[in-house]
Order: sequence, then structure tokens, then C-alpha cells
Amino acid sequence: MTDVKAIIEQMTLAEKAALCTGDSAWTTTPIKRLGLPAMVVSDGPHGVRRQPDVHQMGAESLPATCFPTASALAATWDGELIHELGAALAEECIAQHVDVVLGPGANMKRSPLNGRNFEYFSEDPYLAGELAAAYINGVQSKGVGTSLKHFAANNQEFQRFTISAEIDERTLREIYLPAFEKAVRQAQPWTVMCAYNKVNGTFASEHDYLLNRILKDEWGLEGLVVSDWGAVRDRVAALKGGLDWEMPGPQARRVQEVIDAVNAGVLDEAVLDESVRRILGIVTKTQQTPKGGEFDAEAHHQLARRVAADGMVLLKNDGILPLQGQQVIAVIGRSARQPHFQGGGSSHINPTQVTVPFEALQAHAGDAKLTYADGYPADNRIRQDLIDEAVAAARAAEVALLFIALPTYKESEGYDRTDLDLTAQQIALIQAVAAVQPNTAVILNNGAPVVMGDWIDGVAAVLEAYMMGQAGGGAISDILFGAVNPSGKLAETFPLRLEDTPAYLNWPGGAGTVRYGEGLFIGYRYYDARKLPIQFPFGHGLSYTTFAYSNARVSAESFDDTDGVTVSVDITNTGAVAGKEIVQLYVHDHEAGLVRPDKELKGFAKVALAPGETKTVNIGLDFRAFAFYHPKYKQWITEDGAFDLLIGASAADIRHSLTVTLRSTLDLPCLLDKESTIREWLADPRGRALAEPVLEQIRANVIAMFAGIVAAGEGPAENDDMDLMLGFNDMPLVSVMLWQADTFDKHPEDIVAELLERATRQPVA
Ligand code: BGC
Repeated sequence: MTDVKAIIEQMTLAEKAALCTGDSAWTTTPIKRLGLPAMVVSDGPHGVRRQPDVHQMGAESLPATCFPTASALAATWDGELIHELGAALAEECIAQHVDVVLGPGANMKRSPLNGRNFEYFSEDPYLAGELAAAYINGVQSKGVGTSLKHFAANNQEFQRFTISAEIDERTLREIYLPAFEKAVRQAQPWTVMCAYNKVNGTFASEHDYLLNRILKDEWGLEGLVVSDWGAVRDRVAALKGGLDWEMPGPQARRVQEVIDAVNAGVLDEAVLDESVRRILGIVTKTQQTPKGGEFDAEAHHQLARRVAADGMVLLKNDGILPLQGQQVIAVIGRSARQPHFQGGGSSHINPTQVTVPFEALQAHAGDAKLTYADGYPADNRIRQDLIDEAVAAARAAEVALLFIALPTYKESEGYDRTDLDLTAQQIALIQAVAAVQPNTAVILNNGAPVVMGDWIDGVAAVLEAYMMGQAGGGAISDILFGAVNPSGKLAETFPLRLEDTPAYLNWPGGAGTVRYGEGLFIGYRYYDARKLPIQFPFGHGLSYTTFAYSNARVSAESFDDTDGVTVSVDITNTGAVAGKEIVQLYVHDHEAGLVRPDKELKGFAKVALAPGETKTVNIGLDFRAFAFYHPKYKQWITEDGAFDLLIGASAADIRHSLTVTLRSTLDLPCLLDKESTIREWLADPRGRALAEPVLEQIRANVIAMFAGIVAAGEGPAENDDMDLMLGFNDMPLVSVMLWQADTFDKHPEDIVAELLERATRQPVA
């Protein structure tokens, strides 16, 4: 092991400052005098984008396997598979002399309009966190580093370099941070990349609270924090805020700023040393994995095909899939020949090979005849001639396979979408083909939800093939012909209309800020709360077989939060073909001190079953599965009470519900103050006991006050304290007492002050 401390002791101030800024677009600054080499990083996330010249940002990268993007990976709900993919990515890094791959991205899909959603996993923090951790563990198991990004609240492209995401503390903790938290705690990414944007007014690159307090102190990140490329505005503020390594480089001026700041006493050298320590720790770690050699491109292509097939979601199927015995198949749509398999921007991979869907279909189709029509042009024009040609082909066939890809000008890194629609030509094409061919299956290639209201009822099947990676063409044909039974499920809700989406009224912000006004309620949390109809729910996906859920049970009906509980359910494949089912576990809190989403995903399992086979699925729930973040206590808390554990095949298809009782083991500090309301006194275990005599007296006074009205039969029932107290419970205790001051033997302010003194030091009886 290299002695990092010893190296730091030998470093000059100038060398330390230089190490904290890159030497090129993709490398750290080497220190030859001390034998410290440069560390090489490359994008990410769904393939290795190794630039042949580290001084170039956007040249064609070395050929590498283009795996499906994160939307598709998430739809597999398969941590083991993503781990395997991570290991393959690491092999490609090793072969290409890459020390750290810049991924995964764990930001939430706040709105389907985010141009970069294809690079992110889910609208649900639990799912995104599990999958990000699996990815990181997979890559790092081979001695290659990752960069968990973009920390934090990078949820849109509009003004992404400057906009301030305005998010309340609880929403940040419960929605926007947990995927990062889980990934850090479960997988220790070697690096974390900060976001471009500001969070509540402070650049993510200078955010002491996010980088130092939460990421490093609270979650225990051992690795380094790197800037997104060009995210640093003030180098010294960024170092103080916890940003260790600025990229890209070289930036002589920034290095000088750091030197000057230390010399002027503005920056404590110990802060610089801490960043140097973290960078050295990772640079030396990367050197333990020898680089070079080759990777097995063919094996990785096959893995990419398996992953792609598992990440495709069969959204609708009236029974025409899998294809069987058709003799004439019309293949329509440009993307059958020019596959759309990845997104635009920094994640763009130069694939080792690309499977063309049309050719893969031909390989599967045997004697059947495949015809082809373009259907739509590469650009945004309306071309009736192409529609006419497609209609003729569809009419002459027994089935039409309609390949629809959302064009890059509608979805990419760098800009957001303005709508959720396909192009006008694509919609007209689907309608025209479906009108003449009832056996029409639509195959979508896109990175995020599209709306389907204009055409879905007319078609027999819809396969969401996402940005499927270089081998996706083969995966599509595997599914269409039934060589693979689809098992993917949506990691995001497909809405009916853009106007129904959670962030609609607060998107994309202006005047430098975007307010996260919907709070906790993104994705299914929002649609649940609003009881809004949707196109397809979170967790939805069809199979060529069916699954029965039975014998749902729980390890304990009543338990301590710290013990947690295990839910078990038997899953049986009741159909004729082998298949995989994704079982989801949501938690619903009966009653809480603060508003909570109706239900939240807290566990899942994917199970493979032969026809007729039954397996038991066990899912554990821990403290956090029941807790919520309380902004006043500034911690995750649990409350005593009943919870429903909902076992489902999707967020809208709950098969079993078990009710359990949780005991909170927390001994929370008393938060009462002189403005606290009667309700707050009642809710606080110490406060309630101490204030009881005062509350008794208030109740008696209130009953006396209303006696006349009650006698006249116009008020609430005489002995119904709750009704009588209704108007008072949300008033400060002291204010109610002041109205009745003459009934107390001391001044109410003094009584409350005494109660508070006792409440804040006395343990619960
Ligand atoms: C992107 C990052 C990427 C970096 C390097 C940035 O513009 O936001 O995700 O890793 O460029 O290409």
C-alpha cells in the first residue's frame, strides 16, 4: 500500500494545488518527481467513451460496447444483471487504460421532459439507489472506479449550468438524495461527480452542506468528489465546500488561485491537504489494477443483448405477440433499419458493432417474407408518400411491426423536451397503418415516456424497447418471436398527458430558479395522491405467461423499528412458458405526524420460474422502510402505529396487503417552544404528560364557555371534548391560556416557560 500521508508531506504547495485540477480533459495531474502517475477517466455511463487523445473532449472514441441506457437498465429491476454489466464495463476500461468510468447517474426523473432522463434510472429513489449500487459494485469488483453523478438535484437541462433547484429539506432527503445515499453506503463509489446546478442558491460544486456535511461526514464517502466538466465557478469556495478535483484541465489560473489563497491565509492548507489525501487515495488505488489487454467484444455484445431484452417492457399485447406462423410480415419505420439505440451528448458510445432490427428479424423469421417501408423521414417533414407506402405494405401482410424512434432533436443531453409526443408524421403513420392492419405492434425506441392517447387503442401491441444499446435489434426480435419472454417493468409512470405530470406547473423555472413545488410527490407518489388516471403505472410490464401470488405472510405482526420485518409471498408461474416476475413491495403508513405519500416502494425481487413452478420470495424491510425525514428533528424518524405492506405486480396492481404494527424505539428530543400549539404539546410524549393538568383546565373552561350554546342544542355535544376543542387545538397553548388567564394562578407565559423547562430536560416517564 502506498503511504498517502508520506506523499503529502513531500508535496509542495504548488503540487498540491495542481493535483486538485485536471491535467487534461480526462486525467489528473501526474507528479513525476514523486512517481505519481496520471489517472484516466472516461464517460459513461452505459459504455466506455475513451478519447484516444486525452486532450480532446468530443473526438470519436475508441470502439466499446454500447449497452442499453439507464432507463432500460432500470426496467430490468435486476441488480445481479446490472452487476454483471458493471463487471463487463470494467473489463473494457482495463483494456482501454481507463481507471474510472463516469457513471452511473442516480438523479430522479422529476419530469419526463428532462432531456437527460435516458441516463437516469427511475422516478423512485429506492429503485434507483439499489440499481446504482449494483452498477458500482459490479464495476469496482474488477478494480476499476466509478463516478456517481450528478450530485445533486440535476433534474433538467434548461439552464443546467446556473439554475438553482429550490427544494425543501424533507423533499431533498426523501426524494432527491436517497439514491445517492444508498449507492454511497452500499457501494462506496471511488468518485462522486457534483452537478452543474445550484441547490437552494449555492452551486453544487461549492455546497458545504451537500458535499462535506452529508456526502462525506454523514454517509461516509471515502473517495473523492469531482466537478462536472466545467461546474466550478470559484475554485477556493469549491475546495472549502468539499469539491476535491476540478475537471477538465489544465487550468493554470485556477491552480494559482489556490496557491494565492493559501498564502494569503484565506484557505486553510489543511482543507487543501484533505482534498489531496482523497485524490491520492483514489489515484494510488487505480494503480493496483494493471491496465491493457483486450476485452471480449463478442461476449459483451451478447451480454448487451441479454440486458436489452430484459430491459424491454411489453406495455400492451392483445395476443398477437409472440409472433407465430405468419407468412408475410410488414416491417415499417426507419428505426428498423437505422436503429436508434443510445442518446445524444457526453454518453455517446462508438459501438463495436450494431445489430440492425430488420436483419435480426429476418434471421428469426425462417420462411416468412419480410417487407419493408421507411414510414417517416429522418427530419421533421410530413411525407404522405411514405405513409401511403407503409399502408400498402401493412395491407399486404398478416402483421405490421411498426418501429418508431423518438428523434434526437426531441430528446438529448443539452436540452429538455417541450412535449411528450411522437412526431406528427409518426402519429399519422401509426394511425394509418393501424386502420388497415389490426395486427399492428408498435416498437418504441426512446429514453423516456411518450404519450400514446392518439393511437394506442388502434394497435394490438406496444413494446417499449427504450435506448436499447448496440445489440438491441437482436433483443427486439428475441421478444417479438418469443425466444425471450419479456420481463421488464417500467421504472417510471407513463402519463396520459403532459399536463398531468407532477412538475408541470413548476417546470422549468425562470429568473434563475426552479421551485420543486410538488415536493415529495413525483412519479407514482403524485398520481396516487391526485388519483389521476395514467397510461401505464410504475412497475407495469406484461409477460407471455401469467403469475399467481399466494400465501403472503410477514415474520412478525408487531415489531420494533430497529428489528424490521420480512415479508414472504409465493409466486407461481401459471402459464405455459418460462418467465420472470418482478414482485414489488410498497409501504403505506396509516397515520403520520406529517403528510406522507400514499405508498412508497421499499423492496422488490425478480424471480425466474418454469411453467408450473412456485418459489417463495422474501423481502426484508428495515428501519428506513418505515421512516420519514422530519425537518424539525433533522433526522429520519419512525412513529408508533399501523402500516400496510402492499405486495404488487405494479404500483396499480396490488395483490396482497398485510397490516403490521411498528413500535418506534426512538427517544426524540423535545422540540416544543413557547409558540407550540396544543396539538404539538399533545403529540410530544414529554409535553403531553407535563401539560395534562393545564389542558384539563383549558377543556373545563371551554366546556363552561360553550355551556349556553350546548344547552340550546346548537353546539357540539356537551361531553365531546374533541369537538369543543377543535378550534383551539391549532392555537399556541399560551394564546389559549391568555384568553382564560384569570382561571390560572400564575401568568400563562410563566406557566408555559416552566413547562418548557421541564419538558426539555425530563426524560419520558
Ligand atoms: C456531463 C457529464 C459528463 C461530463 C464529461 C458533462 O457535460 O454532464 O455527465 O460525465 O460532461 O463528458
